[in-house]
Formats: sequence, C-alpha cells, structure tokens
Amino acid sequence: MPIRTAKHAGFCMGVKRAVDGAMKASRQFGRIVTIGELVHNPQVIRRLEEQGIRAVEALSEAAGQTAVIRSHGVAPGVYEELNALDCQTIDLTCPYVQRLHEIVSRYSGDGRTVIHAGQMDHPEVIGTVGWCNGEVYTVSDAAQAEALPEMDEALAVAQTTFPHEAWETILPVLRRKVKHLTVEDTICTATVLRQNEARQLAAEADAMLVVGGRKSANTRKLYETCRAICSRTLLIESADEIPADFADIHSEIIGITAGASTPDWLLKEVVTRMTDKEQMDQQVPAEEAEKNSFMADVEATLVKIRPGQTVTGTVVQMTDEEICVNIGFKSDGLIKREDLVTEDVKMGDEIEVEVVKVNDGDGNVLLSQRNILKRKAFAKLVEKFENDEYVEGIGKEVVKGGLICDVDGIRAFVPASQLSNRYVEKIGEFIGKTLTLKIIELDEQKRRIVASRKAVLKAEEASRKAEVWESLEEGAVIKGIVRRLTDFGAFVDIGGVDGLIHVTDLSWSHVKHPSEIVHPDQEVEVKILNLDHERERIQLGLKQMQPKPWDVAPQKYPEGSVVIGKVVRITTFGAFVELEPGVDGLVHISQCATTRIDKVEDAVSVGDEINVKVLSIDPQAKRISLSIRALLEDEAPKPVQEEKPAEPEVIDEIVPVDIEAVGKQLEEEAAAAEAEEAPAEKPKKKASSKKAKEAEAAEQPAEPEKPADDAEA
Ligand code: F3S
Repeated sequence: MPIRTAKHAGFCMGVKRAVDGAMKASRQFGRIVTIGELVHNPQVIRRLEEQGIRAVEALSEAAGQTAVIRSHGVAPGVYEELNALDCQTIDLTCPYVQRLHEIVSRYSGDGRTVIHAGQMDHPEVIGTVGWCNGEVYTVSDAAQAEALPEMDEALAVAQTTFPHEAWETILPVLRRKVKHLTVEDTICTATVLRQNEARQLAAEADAMLVVGGRKSANTRKLYETCRAICSRTLLIESADEIPADFADIHSEIIGITAGASTPDWLLKEVVTRMTDKEQMDQQVPAEEAEKNSFMADVEATLVKIRPGQTVTGTVVQMTDEEICVNIGFKSDGLIKREDLVTEDVKMGDEIEVEVVKVNDGDGNVLLSQRNILKRKAFAKLVEKFENDEYVEGIGKEVVKGGLICDVDGIRAFVPASQLSNRYVEKIGEFIGKTLTLKIIELDEQKRRIVASRKAVLKAEEASRKAEVWESLEEGAVIKGIVRRLTDFGAFVDIGGVDGLIHVTDLSWSHVKHPSEIVHPDQEVEVKILNLDHERERIQLGLKQMQPKPWDVAPQKYPEGSVVIGKVVRITTFGAFVELEPGVDGLVHISQCATTRIDKVEDAVSVGDEINVKVLSIDPQAKRISLSIRALLEDEAPKPVQEEKPAEPEVIDEIVPVDIEAVGKQLEEEAAAAEAEEAPAEKPKKKASSKKAKEAEAAEQPAEPEKPADDAEA
C-alpha cells in the first residue's frame, strides 16, 4: 500500500475536547458563541455553525449568551468581562494550556519576570501573558532572545505548540542572559509526536499531503516541516484540493498527515479519495484488458516489473543525457547519465539495472544502475550496523532538524541532537567534513538510516574516562582545571573526567561560595579524597593541600607575640579577632582596654583591624587568648623613680687608739667627778650601736670615734 497515514494526525486531545464540549453545550443550551474560532479549519467552522455554534471576535458580541472559551485559553480579565456582560461561561481551555497558566501565574506572583517563547500574536500567547503578574518578554527565535537584556532571574516557558527545535535554540541563549533561569517545558507532547512522525513520514514518502486549515499555525508548521524534507508536499484543506496528477499511486509512496485542527472525518475523506484513485487506476488496465483480449494476451507475454526490481536489459540507444535499455517490457527503460555507473557502456551491451519508476509520466520506465550499487552499499551498512561498527560519512546538506551525510553513497540522516555531545549552533559547519558515525537506526525496507556522531564521541569519551579512572588513586595529588562553579562546590577537570571539590573542602575557613576561592579555568593542585567507581564520582580536596591552620598556629602566634587581626564578632564577654581564615582568638572584655569598660563596643567594632598581644594559645582546644590591654600597658611610658638619698657611709676603719691617752682621760674624768662632790656617777655606757655611736660622736665631736669592741677592750 503506497499510502501511509500518520498515526498522530488530526484533532489533538485539547481541540477534540473543545469541539465535543461545544457540541454538547449547543445541544444543552441551544445557540452558543465561542470566543474566537474553536478550530482554524473552515470545514469544521461551517459544521459548527450548522449546529448553532457561532464564533465571535469581540466580547461584546457575546453579551447575555452562553460563551465557550476555546482550547487556546484566555487571560483572567476575559472571564471578568464575560461575567460583566452577563454571559454563562463554559471554559474548554486545554489542560496543557491551563497548566501553563498556573506555572506563569505562580512564578510571577511576586512580580518576577517571565520569558515566553512563542508567537506574540497567537491567541494562546496573548492569553498566557495575561496570567503573568510581572514583566513578560515574548521571543520567537534565538535572535530575539539575544536581544533581551541581562537578567538576574526569570522563568522560561513556551507556547504549547512551539517547535521543539526552536525552543532548543532559544534556551542556551536564555541561560547566558539570565543568571538564575527557571525552565519549564510546557510544549505539548501531542505537537512533538505529530511533528516527529510527520518528519519521519516525509523522509520515506515521495509525496506528502498535509491536511488542515491554512489559518492554523500548527498546520502551517507541520507543512513547513514536511516540505523541508519532501519537496513534493502539498497543504490542502479538503480532498477536493488534491490535484489529479499529484503523484503516481502505483510507484510512489504518498504520506498523509493532518494538523491538530483537522477532524477525523476530513482526514478520512482525503485518505479515501487517494485510495479510490489507486483502485480506479488499477481497474482501468483491467477493464481495458477485458475489452481487448488480444492486448491482454500480448501484455501477458511481457515481463512484469515493479519499482525496486533488478532486471537485465540491452542498451538500444545512447544520447549525451541518457541511455535507452530494452528490458522486455512494453516500453523501454531510460537511464540518466548520472545514474549510470558503467562508464564504457556501448550499444548492445547487457547491463543490470534497477526499476525506479514504472512510468515516468511520459510512458517510459525509469531505470538506474547507481541504485544497484547503492543497494549493495546498503547491504554493507546493514552488516556494519549489526556488528556495531562505525562508518564514515561526509556532511552534505543541512535539513530541518539535522544533517544529511553521504555514507558510501547512501543518504544517512544525523539529527542535530546527535551531531555532537555539545549543543551545535551551526549545523552547516559539518558540510564537507568527514565524520565518524554510528548507525543508530536502520530500516531495510524503507532504506532509511539514522546515524549519530554523538554516540561515537561518547564511546571515545567513555574509554578515555576509563583510562583516567584506572590511573586515579585515593590520596594522590593531581593537577586539574576548574571547569564550573555551583553553590555546592567546584567541578575540576582532572584529565578527561570531572571531580568535585565540595565547598567545605575548598578552604579550612568557612566559604560561602566557591568563587571566593577559585574561578573557572584556574589550574589547581588537588588531593583525591574519595573515588566512587559505582556512581562515577570523584571527591577532591583543595584545603587538604595546606596544613591545618591550628597545627601551625603555635609557631605563628607564640605567646607574647604581637599580631594584627580583624574583629569579626563581638559578644558580651569579648571580641573575636580573626588572625587568619580559620584562626580566631578572643580578647576578653577585661583585656579590651586599660580601663574598665561597660561593653566591648566601647573599645572595638566589627571590622576593625587591631594589634593584639597573644596571652596564651591552646591548639588542641583551638583557643587563643588575646589582649589589647597588655599591649597598651607594654607601650605606656614607665613612671620616673625618685632618687633615694644616699645612705651615710659606714666607715669601718680601724682608728689607731692611744691606750695611754685613753687611760689618762678616764682618770681625769673620774677625778673631775669626785671634785664636783657628786655621788659617784656611774660611768656612761659605751656606745654599741651605730646610732649610739653617732649620738656619741655628736656629743663629742672632738673625740675620734672608737670602735665599740676596742672601746670595751
Ligand atoms: Fe492542547 Fe496540545 Fe492540543 S496543548 S490544544 S493538546 S496541541
């Protein structure tokens, strides 16, 4: 059967729900109106009108009536207006669109920005924008996304029917533009499925029919998608628009798909028309044969051929453009020069050819010799596919969604997502280049090959990774390049594989964000802390490359030393001073000043850089006791000491004593005492102490001082 109909064609769930809902409402309420056309298809609109369902553009036209909201949805203000117009509202917004409304409304509830990928004038987009509470930017391609201003944060969503490829090209731009981008994939899966299937069908078909309303954006998109792959694609609104000579139903494959606004009955009409045509065409020669049994007998003697069949024929005519070959059929076959492989072909030569078309439109059979080579080449590719071997292909042509490569003369499609393991901005850069590819899909019947370069690159990367993993050892120190930073750490490329330095392993001190310590492209020396082979995770450490600050603190901050630090925290009992990241000391309130203070802030403030004296250090307890007071006291000038009067010098000199003279003096004293008739006075006690001696000396200045012992003697 040469007619192939897409499985995902016609009404999507949302549109079907809206049409069925409107029909049900019209049966229930009689005449109703829809806010805008329910579907962009004139045939459906006509049928709906026959049921009493009329589309209105201005809300005022719906006043007092039952109004249906179509699957596109509307802005919240529309519900209010309909209410004010005394309308009974039936909301048939597609659930996918409702979800989109909920997402943007929730995100922008506090006024945050929404970036909406879609067509600005599309009713669904207009409705969605109405649900946003902050700024909204609508972009339809990467160039428009490029023109957006830089933003701190935003939400990115897409119109439900937005093409996936366009969304994929917009997202990388938004990721560059918006620091904190939240992405919600709001593209409806029905659209993706429909487009993917249409693309596949178009690649197989000789001619394509896309059925749907010309006003429907979804149908137009489908048409463009198919047309990019199959040049004989036609957009029709009904079966009547199929041209009589659209395709050769006997020898060509005809693909049929339909947009989301095309009802089943319309699609069936087109399929039936094409099938009837096929049957009619088949009947004509049969009827004629019956009429003319002679011709039937003649035809019975002729070979029967079909497209793809290999036959042997004789060269009967040659021109510069083509070769005419007798293949025993009622008409001769023609091979275009470019389809001829045997270069030195001559008249009368027997050559093997393949039937391309039984009738090329002028009654000739179209033949090709190149196709045979292709078939052989294809057989080899099948073998390579089965053996998981790589093939070489040359980039030939950029098509919608990917690149066509020539693999040994066979066209192979490489989807854009399979061209590299990174996002490819310009597919055209692969044209003319030889690529190593892996065939990931091969359909022998349809002769279709889908290949991937990404699979090859991934396999190479995997073997490179395996090699690197082999060489890694826990505890080893290696060099790496910082590739990217996240809130929880820094990813470091250590020769083909990435390891993570967790934020807590970047420094011995507290780190808020990895950017405080490292930056992308920085070369770092790191220690392998842990290798998790199962989960392919490598834990690296940067701080482990430096000694623990407390281990060396006693050498750096010995007791009695004066150091500079920064006040980082103040408590009621003192100020914490950071001497270096990770090493804080305490200046107790009593050590903050030389005089008594009520609170620590009277002496220092957070952020102050101050000189402090180390009073004591306990590395085990991680405590350093610091003092400002001790430092100030050390620096204060010393009071000047009063000079004490010099002690009188004691002269322990032995004075020579004249014994006789002393004796004589004593006698004279005794005589004098007697002469004064005084009772005999006791002789005076001899001075024994220094003071006594001094007194004695004062009393008897003329007398030389005598040593006590000598005097007694
Ligand atoms: Fe809804 Fe998807 Fe159709 S969004 S209207 S189901 S194309």
